[in-house]
Amino acid sequence: MCEVAERLLHWYDRHARKLPWRTPPGQGKTDPYRVWLSEIMLQQTTVAAVKDYFNRFTSLWPTVEALAAADDERVMAEWAGLGYYARARNLLACARTVAASGEQFPADQSALQALPGVGPYTSAAIAAIAFDLPETVVDGNVERVVARFFAVQEPMPAAKPELRRLAATLTPNQRPGDFAQAMMDLGATICTPRSPACAICPLSDLCAARKAGIAAELPRRMPKQPKPRRTGIAWVAVNEDTILLERRPPKGLLGGTLAFPSMGWDGRDFAPPIEGVWHDLGTVNHVFTHFSLDLRVMLARTVSNPERGFWLPRRDFSSTDLPGLMRKVWKRAETELSVI
Ligand code: ADE
Repeated sequence: MCEVAERLLHWYDRHARKLPWRTPPGQGKTDPYRVWLSEIMLQQTTVAAVKDYFNRFTSLWPTVEALAAADDERVMAEWAGLGYYARARNLLACARTVAASGEQFPADQSALQALPGVGPYTSAAIAAIAFDLPETVVDGNVERVVARFFAVQEPMPAAKPELRRLAATLTPNQRPGDFAQAMMDLGATICTPRSPACAICPLSDLCAARKAGIAAELPRRMPKQPKPRRTGIAWVAVNEDTILLERRPPKGLLGGTLAFPSMGWDGRDFAPPIEGVWHDLGTVNHVFTHFSLDLRVMLARTVSNPERGFWLPRRDFSSTDLPGLMRKVWKRAETELSVI
């Protein structure tokens, strides 16, 4: 084992974060279902945001078989707020594929990557963390640690292949699962993006960026292009004790989620879903991966028949069942309900 791995594991033994999906340091394998579920949830979301979702999912569905048998809409509702709804659909598809195979998750990279929603990152994470196999797991935290440790000057994202190659040179054959998580923890708690805490880093005297005094500047990035802006309209129709909602089409933006009827921002063009006197409540902003959206919120009290969507009784409605964008829409509308 190289000195870096040795030092990092020693540090991890004392400083590993306690996370609900994690086996404590030195105890080897972890239930692949829990590793897979946590890794899917953690893609592009923070550890802090995922903890409660992970605990809730695993208490509702403690095994992959249980999740495979779950109702689609129930899973989408529990996922609401985590974002990237295609992941929730892939989550179910993957659980059902594994459950139908009559076996558990495979350990092999290509078998793992054949599963819905499982790419090279997730397959490496499952192999390393669940099965303790010497795969190299490279997420954003690990890229930062490696870019600094080797003082890689090439900007992201072009540097990715080089960072992966360099990360692989550090991966040990012993305790690769702990090593993968130690790299993540180092990146999350010490080798942080803005002001790395080099003074308490177990690798600081070996770190090339530290030596050159450029740790905080790495990894370098190409100047960011501003996100394109989109606009649209969302209609919130209410009557005494119901709210007009729709289930979005399964594919595409916010696919399969519960939502207020809307148009213009997602390639769909519609008239208002129902007749009414509409009040313009201004716009809410929401940033997606590839664009920033200003969505105008229109509110009406009406008893007409809707051309789109369905009336949901208020007592069955919880804004936590909505994706983040639609929660913002509801928050804006809710405060105006007493006024119109
Ligand atoms: N980010 C993604 N996977 C993680 C894990 N297993 N531990 C900590 N942070 C993570």
